[in-house]
Parts: sequence; C-alpha cells; structure tokens
Amino acid sequence: MIEKILKILAKNEDYISGEEIGKILNISRASVWKYMKKLKEIGYEIESISNRGYKLKNNIDFIDKESLKIENLFFEEEMASTNDYAKKIALENCPNWSVVLCNNQTNGRGRLGRSWEAEKNSGIYISFVLRPEILPQYVYQITLVVGVAIRRVLESLTGLEPLIKWPNDILINGKKVAGILTEMNSEMEKINFVIVGVGINVNNSKFSEDIAQKATSIMLETNKIYSRNEIIRKLVIELEKCYNQFCLYGFKPFKEEYNKYCANVGKNVTTQNGSEKTTGISKGVNEKGELIIESENGQVNVLAGEVSIRLSDGRYI
Ligand code: BTN
Repeated sequence: MIEKILKILAKNEDYISGEEIGKILNISRASVWKYMKKLKEIGYEIESISNRGYKLKNNIDFIDKESLKIENLFFEEEMASTNDYAKKIALENCPNWSVVLCNNQTNGRGRLGRSWEAEKNSGIYISFVLRPEILPQYVYQITLVVGVAIRRVLESLTGLEPLIKWPNDILINGKKVAGILTEMNSEMEKINFVIVGVGINVNNSKFSEDIAQKATSIMLETNKIYSRNEIIRKLVIELEKCYNQFCLYGFKPFKEEYNKYCANVGKNVTTQNGSEKTTGISKGVNEKGELIIESENGQVNVLAGEVSIRLSDGRYI
C-alpha cells in the first residue's frame, strides 16, 4: 500500500487530498494519514496543508516495482540488508533467480565485515538468489562475471570507462562506485544457494569522512542525475545474460574482457591471506578468474577471490 501511495504522490505535481487518495485506493482518510506518517519516518519529505492535502516536496528518484517487470521480485521500501532478506527467502525455498530490491537500505553489509553506506533514495541495493550447478570452489567466479555485467551497464550509461578492481570493486576515475557481496550456503560438494548482493552509488552526493576519498557516485562523476529504475532494468537484463552464459561455459568467455578493464593489471599488488603476504606485479586473471601475481624473483602466484561461506547451521567459515 505504501508504494501505491508513493506512486500517486509522485505522479501528482500539485497537492492531493487524503480523501482523494483514500478513494483511489479504497482506504479511509485515517489510514492515508497513517501511511503518510510512515513515509515521513522512512525519510520522504511530504508537505501537508489542511484543505489541500499532501505533496512530495522534492522530486525524488522513485523505484517503481511494477514498471520494472522483474519476475520473482521481492521489493520493499526499506530493508536492513537485501542480502539478509535474500538469505531468508532462499532458506524458505524461493525460486532460482529471485531478485530482492529495496529503495532504502538501513544496515547494508560490505565485504570483510564492513558496512555499506546508503544515502536516502540515492543508491541501488539489490540481491539475487542463485542456485548454480557448479562446485562451491568456483562460486567466486560468479562475482567476477557480475562485475563484468555492472561495468558494461555503467559504461553504456555514462560513456566513461569504469574499471574492475579484482575481485569485485567497480571504479570510476579511480574511486569505488559499486561493490559486490557474494555469500554462499553449501555442503562440501553441493551448493544450496548463492546470494549475490550489488550496491551501486547512483545519485549519492556525499560519503562519510572515512571513505570520502575512495568512494564516489555516478552522479558525482558525471554531474547528471540518473533514474535508478532505468539502471536496475538494464542491470537485471545484462546480469541474466552474463549469468546464463557463465552457467553454460564458465568464466572462460569473460576472461579477455575482465583483463581489458582490470584496474590491477600491471600494478604492484600486495595481498594478504591469513599471515601470508604476496607482493608483485599483477598480470590480470587466468581462465579460472584467479589473479596472477608475478614477484620480482619471477615466481608466479595465483589468488582465488573469496566468498563468504555460510553453513546450513548459520555459521560462516
Ligand atoms: C563491498 O564492496 O564490500 C560489497 C558491498 C555490497 C553492498 C551490497 S548493497 C546490496 C547488498 N546488501 C547488502 O547488505 N550488501 C550488498
């Protein structure tokens, strides 16, 4: 109901009375008032004038789930984390390729226990529930393929050349604009489900001090405001195409493109795996999507991208 009210407000440039909204939706004026209160709590700026009604103050970029026409879409105005929501529905046996989306995310999670910042009505927070028929050790390749898909979409939208920082950061002009959090629930040899969460900074205008030097948004890099709806639509189409190709042929067909736009190629990299540090020049990824690092003494090391593993009993390893 809350989304229907938002849609009516977004369509109306002028004030619309509670009575009129109530008539359209077949609910009482008191219920309309209650929903308006909830919308204000979520962060929408709604002006209300007695005798005239309600009006959305700023022209927010509105996510309209109907026009997205995505099958198996789980949308809510506000979620703590789309990955957590996706995990919940995956455990309840939702279909393969279910899509979880919210307008505002209040407790988004990033890799390595970090949080993912969200500015009201500005970013994209979306997760996919997948049930791939591959061995658990290859799940990290899905992250790389998703990175390729996001990069393509952002390039076609902005005309800029986004790069991928292995394994899963998308950069524009050297700053992070999107991230991917892949989590898995599996047995030794069998995947129960994989959750791929994607966060994209679209119209974000600011970031907290600790990440302000490293993070950016598409709007900040192009000085244009974007429709999140349009990006979501393009992203879901591109992702589905790439994921289907991956299911058939694995990572191999993506290797060349990944390396073409891999920010690490030719760069000095130091990576840490537990207490073991690997330093050298990155040569890009091999056919498995592992990062090849050549050290000064000519020794070649490969690094596989990591995925958070969540066991059926809820523990992560
Ligand atoms: C990272 O770069 O550290 C990964 C960030 C992933 C953020 C997205 S936002 C949608 C989904 N839900 C979450 O809680 N996290 C991911």
